[in-house]
Amino acid sequence: MIYACHLDDLPKGESVRVMADVPIAVFNVDGRLYAVDDTCTHQNASLSDGWLEGCFIECPLHEASFDLRTGAPTCLPAKRPVRTHAVTVAEDGAVYVHASVPQAVAEGAA
Ligand code: FES
Repeated sequence: MIYACHLDDLPKGESVRVMADVPIAVFNVDGRLYAVDDTCTHQNASLSDGWLEGCFIECPLHEASFDLRTGAPTCLPAKRPVRTHAVTVAEDGAVYVHASVPQAVAEGAA
């Protein structure tokens, strides 16, 4: 469980980047929080620097879009999904990310 920020520091429509084993981006979509790997699966852009439209984040480099609910890319040039991560908010407003297992580890290929 990784501390991300206080909820007051993540207003609607904003994002925060969290340094974990790999960087993770947390987004506030109209009060619902979503976390995905911060690095675009196309090249090396930071999705937390992208444009949020509803539950979709558009990559700032080549404009691929990802569904924050599933991590799935919704248009080229990205073809692979980003990992999604669970997010919880404690009673004191602390936002935590529960990082998923890296894909290579999950598949036993680490
Ligand atoms: S780096 Fe994200 S679409 Fe190219």
